[in-house]
Amino acid sequence: MRVAVLSGGRSSEHDVSLSSGGSVADGLREAGHEVIPILIERDGRWLADGDEVELRASGGLLDAEVAFPVLHGPFGEDGTVQGMLECLDLPYVGPGVLAASLAIDKLIFKRLIAFHGIPQVDFCEAGADGWRDQVAAMGLPVWVKPARLGSSVGISKVTSPERGLGEAVEVAARHDPRVIVEADGGGREVECSVLGNDRPIASPPGEIVTHADWYDYEAKYSDGGMDLVVPARIGDEQIARVRELAVRVFTAIGGSGLARCDFFVRDDGEVLVNEINTIPGFTSTSVFAKLFEAGGIPYPELCDRLVRLALERYEAERAHRF
Ligand SMILES: Nc1ncnc2c1ncn2[C@@H]1O[C@H](COP(=O)(O)OP(=O)(O)O)[C@@H](O)[C@H]1O
Ligand SMILES: [Mg+2]
Repeated sequence: MRVAVLSGGRSSEHDVSLSSGGSVADGLREAGHEVIPILIERDGRWLADGDEVELRASGGLLDAEVAFPVLHGPFGEDGTVQGMLECLDLPYVGPGVLAASLAIDKLIFKRLIAFHGIPQVDFCEAGADGWRDQVAAMGLPVWVKPARLGSSVGISKVTSPERGLGEAVEVAARHDPRVIVEADGGGREVECSVLGNDRPIASPPGEIVTHADWYDYEAKYSDGGMDLVVPARIGDEQIARVRELAVRVFTAIGGSGLARCDFFVRDDGEVLVNEINTIPGFTSTSVFAKLFEAGGIPYPELCDRLVRLALERYEAERAHRF
């Protein structure tokens, strides 16, 4: 297949996306596909081989048969680029418009999984009616985050009563007018990769061990900032629970292709869902890939399966068009 790999993008996760995109291109080539690399500049221009790409609804995207958006955060993982690819009528890897946009919005996502009875921490929207009382009831620490970002950007852990909350909300609001406040998850951070469309499979869960107080930007992207322990050092029952919940969350958002679902596993064994990332970091050494490698799916095969899943979904959706 000729696969257009989209990387870069307009979000603060531009550089992360460039590394993921490079790895995906290598993986696809290794699996026998032809790659058309497309760089999305920070200003939003799409470049192929240095030339600006013309995007026309009837013209497709260069000669690509399928697109592989390896874009993180806003304007890539949030349904916007997916909407554009729908307009171009091109099959594409990963979440559709709705799954992408609701998974990136931590408030909407949490309301959705609450509806499904999936366990999570208490949360509220900063500024909403009664939010201060709700925050007071959460105890300490609380976590303040922009509703729609990633890579831990704009997140604060507020540890002292009264002090810090206002400032944390201001910091988060610099990135997004919608701000979420959450109770502390506590325990271990455990992640589980998901692959598939209608019958998704879950990888063995892995545990994130950081040397910092929490899994902040530094820990995520500096060398040696974190260690991934596979399988996670939790009981068999918790392992099974994490995998089951990862698939349930994926299904609840209407996911397709891939995702990485992140959890807190408390010392008493309770498993809480933190979030789902529909286009997780995707280098060959990323958590997403490492977990499936541990589950017996090597990186090039992962890339190849995703392309097949994209085509399968495209055909299935087309069959339902009137
Ligand atoms: N409610 C919480 N309880 C404990 N730690 C949290 C909580 N929310 C966030 N964190 C810490 O902050 C990190 C980033 O938060 P997360 O919600 O995953 O945002 P992002 O989308 O930026 O990854 C988590 O991996 C964890 O270390
Ligand atoms: Mg996260």
